Amino acid sequence: MSKLIVNIAKLCLGQDTKRPLLADKLSELIFIENAWLLIVHGRIADWGTMENCPERADEIIDAAGGFVLPAFVDSHTHLVFAAAREQEFVQRIQGLSYQEIAQKGGGILNSARRLAECSEDKLLEDAFARLQEVISYGTGAIEVKSGYGLSVEAELKMLRVIRKLKEISPIPIKSTFLGAHAMPLAFKENRSGYINQILDEMLPRIAGEGLADYIDVFCEKGFYSVEETDLILDAGAKYGLRPKIHCNQFNSMGGIEIAIKYNAISVDHLEVLNDTEIEALSNSNTIATLLPSAPFFLNDDHFPPARKLVESKVAIALASDFNPGTSPSGNMQFVLSIACIKLRLTPEEAFNAATINAAFALEMEGELGSISKGKKANLMITKPMPSLAFMPYFFGSNLVKRMIIS
Ligand code: NIG
Ligand code: FE
Repeated sequence: MSKLIVNIAKLCLGQDTKRPLLADKLSELIFIENAWLLIVHGRIADWGTMENCPERADEIIDAAGGFVLPAFVDSHTHLVFAAAREQEFVQRIQGLSYQEIAQKGGGILNSARRLAECSEDKLLEDAFARLQEVISYGTGAIEVKSGYGLSVEAELKMLRVIRKLKEISPIPIKSTFLGAHAMPLAFKENRSGYINQILDEMLPRIAGEGLADYIDVFCEKGFYSVEETDLILDAGAKYGLRPKIHCNQFNSMGGIEIAIKYNAISVDHLEVLNDTEIEALSNSNTIATLLPSAPFFLNDDHFPPARKLVESKVAIALASDFNPGTSPSGNMQFVLSIACIKLRLTPEEAFNAATINAAFALEMEGELGSISKGKKANLMITKPMPSLAFMPYFFGSNLVKRMIIS
């Protein structure tokens, strides 16, 4: 089965890289103009300019002057959830903070209550609809976390939903176990009671059923301490689960150090970050995943110091953090816009951070994240646009005309 895309105004070719793109390399994108691209059995086979276009293929797709770009890799989402939380959005407009809402039993605990009441079928149906929506905005691979279960049964239920989603999804999915997302109310005075459930009951069953690719902890004041994070990551490591953790969202408190100790694949958020932590990251293999739509949505003035990270040769990725509390959008085109506006990344840097570097953050770099021969053909064909910069510039519009998935 072959597919030939013709009349591509600009075809974005991948850099052959064995490591995430750093520093100056992050802004390099190679385009060929007036191009064609051949896909054979779902993989990128060949390309060239229209003067030498092959004449035959099983299917010919006219890009009609649009760009062909690698699909986004969204390496951090909470795509499975039971209900929206727009009332908390209103409470924040009225002056409450995210942490205040959480302390009152709202936030993640609110989502956990709703998830406990929701059937697996309904969770799957809603997550699948969200998945289709984010694909239409350009996403071609995604990570999905648990973390709204917060009990043995409900965490397993979420992970089973993610497994079913993997089975029916047109795009590749990686799943992350986030049992340590918030402390369930019943364990407020007995934190080790819940943590022991994670260590002794959840992890063995999750590992036994192969339900997770990674492990996550929300290492933050009012959520999980560094010592607790250490314990949980240590237990995860015994089951071969590499960490991708939430840290430095509101406070710098040692999460990055612990993550690096366990060879974390990424540390995510980093709105509050000091120079020592940047230095530690630059000397590690851990990717800094920035989620700028979360501080945007929380109207928080702290955005990750992306320029400093790039200049310090830290590998950065961009992701949506799609979740009902802090980022109720999985639109990666919007993430590009905020990354340019608030993180001061150039469109090229933001695009590489949301594609090839994000593929590294999911260990999918051999398969996805760039248009390179042999890789999976998960691509977007855009509407005609004057330059790549037009995509983050023209925010709010969907510039993806058509997705090609394998
Ligand atoms: O990445 N910060 C922790 N977790 C999510 C928010 C979860 C929620 O509020 O439901 C995040 O922002
Ligand atoms: Fe998150």
